[in-house]
Amino acid sequence: MVEIILSVIALLILILLIWALAEPHMPQFTVIRMNKDRNTSLRVLFFSDIHSEYCFIKPSYITSLIRRESTSGIDAVVFGGDITGDPSKLARGTEYLQEIAGCCREHNIPFLGVTGNHDCNLTKEQEDKCGFTNIENTYVEIKGHVIAGIDDSGRLERRWHDPADLPAGKEHILIAHDPDALLHLTDPDNIDYMLSGHIHGGQIRTPFKVEFLVIRKDELPRQGIYAGVHRIGKTKVFISRGVGCVKLPLRFFARPEVSIVEF
Ligand SMILES: [Fe+2]
Repeated sequence: MVEIILSVIALLILILLIWALAEPHMPQFTVIRMNKDRNTSLRVLFFSDIHSEYCFIKPSYITSLIRRESTSGIDAVVFGGDITGDPSKLARGTEYLQEIAGCCREHNIPFLGVTGNHDCNLTKEQEDKCGFTNIENTYVEIKGHVIAGIDDSGRLERRWHDPADLPAGKEHILIAHDPDALLHLTDPDNIDYMLSGHIHGGQIRTPFKVEFLVIRKDELPRQGIYAGVHRIGKTKVFISRGVGCVKLPLRFFARPEVSIVEF
């Protein structure tokens, strides 16, 4: 009897492991409508956290989405940060983003982005090579919407940043790698929408949210906010599950995600 129970447990663990190994290869395309009460006036393709050390979604998946969705109109492609967690794999991350940058140029779509906590040691030259327009501490205006970015200091010497002074009377969309940044803004009410990544949807989901309560130190996931759309104060926030994996090449109930976000 004990042997049977152990065999069942071993089989179950094997199935779960196969599942977790397979999931990083299974991207999900999502369409996020930030405001359902009005017509869409801005469409952004958003992806985050490529983590080139364990990224199993090819850039061609994203470029094919850009090509397909550009027929309905894409106003910007936006990257939410975390190029690599392993400096020896930076070239792979750079090439990944360059391929997307090339596709954006082909279709005349601005490619904007910020860096993440894993990128805090990159030089400006290394960031520039990736081919996206870094909007940290600045902003761009597209079709009357202001898209601003903030820097991520990394975790070792955590500092929280505010966006640049943003023009009044327009909608402000903030790109912040770590959604916790919203909790530390001087004036969060000045931000209408925010796009973030960082949490990977938990990456490996566990019962009782152990990954958020014990492993990760982030604040919002402990409140149950780790993926999807949430209203936090006056700001509507979308948190992408990201594309790649950090630490382990595994995902469990947190499929890689690339999104069209409609405002
Ligand atoms: Fe990340």
